[in-house]
Amino acid sequence: MTTTPQSDLGRFYDDFAEDYHLLYPDWDAALARQGAALDALIRDRLGAGPAEVLDCACGIGTQAIGLAALGHRVTGTDLSPVSAARAVAEAAARGLRLPTAAADMRELPFPDGRFDVVVCADNALPHLLMAEDVRAALGEMRRVLRPGGLMLLSTRPYDELRRDRPASTPPQTTESDGRRSVVFQLWQWHADGERYDLELFRLLPDATGQWQVAVRRSSYWALTRAELSAFAAEAGLTGADWVQPADTGFFQPVLIARAP
Ligand SMILES: C[S@@+](CC[C@H](N)C(=O)[O-])C[C@H]1O[C@@H](n2cnc3c(N)ncnc32)[C@H](O)[C@@H]1O
Repeated sequence: MTTTPQSDLGRFYDDFAEDYHLLYPDWDAALARQGAALDALIRDRLGAGPAEVLDCACGIGTQAIGLAALGHRVTGTDLSPVSAARAVAEAAARGLRLPTAAADMRELPFPDGRFDVVVCADNALPHLLMAEDVRAALGEMRRVLRPGGLMLLSTRPYDELRRDRPASTPPQTTESDGRRSVVFQLWQWHADGERYDLELFRLLPDATGQWQVAVRRSSYWALTRAELSAFAAEAGLTGADWVQPADTGFFQPVLIARAP
C-alpha cells in the first residue's frame, strides 16, 4: 500500500512546468553542465558506449536532455504529464529524441532489466514522505536496471540542512525573454525535524511593471545520506556511495548504487 498522496504533487508540477526553467539563470547552460557531470559518472563506471537511460523524474528534461545531447538513449518518466510533454518538446527543439511518459516512480511501466542507468535527480525522491513509498520507488528503480546497472540519485544536502533547519532559500533572479523574475522558497519544518512544507514563490512583473506573485506548496522528507543509503541497500541495490559536488561538478550530492 502506498501512503503519499501524489495527485496534488502532479498538479503542482503540471502548473509549474511552463516556468520551471526560471529556477536557473540559464537553463541551457544547466542542461549542458548537468548532462556532462552525469555522463562522466556513467562513463567512469559503465565504459564509453552510449547507455540506455531512464530518468524516472525527468520533469521538463534538465538531466534527460543533457544526457541525450551526449549520445545516450534516454527515456523520461514523471508524475507530471505536462512536464513530461514539455521535456519532449524541449528535446525536439534541440534536434533530440526523448520519449517520455507520465508515470509514478513507485510503479514504473517497464520490464525488468530494461535500462543500464536510472537517474532520479534534483530532489525528486524526497517528495515521497513515507518509508514504504521510498522503498517502493527504489525497488522499482532496481527492478528496471539490468544486472550491474547504475542508479544515480541526487538530493539536497540534507545532513547539513536538517542540522541548520533553514527557513528559506536565497532568491534566484533570472532574465528570460526580456522579463525579470524572482524565485525563492519558504520552508516550515515539521515537529519531527525531518519533513518540511515549502512555499515556492515566483514573482514576475506584468505589463505595467507591477510584480505578480504566484505561490505553490509542497512537502519534502529530508532524508540524510545514511538513511537513503540504508533504503537503497534494503531495496537490493549494492555499493551505495555518495559523491559530492566538488568531485563531480553536479550541483547536488549524488547517491550511486548498482543493481546486483
Ligand atoms: C524538483 S523536480 C526535478 C525535475 C527534473 N529532474 C529536473 O531537474 O528538471 C522534481 C520532479 O519529481 C517529480 N516527481 C515527484 N514525485 C514523483 C513520483 N512519485 N514519480 C515520478 N515523478 C515524481 C515531479 O513531478 C518533478 O518533475
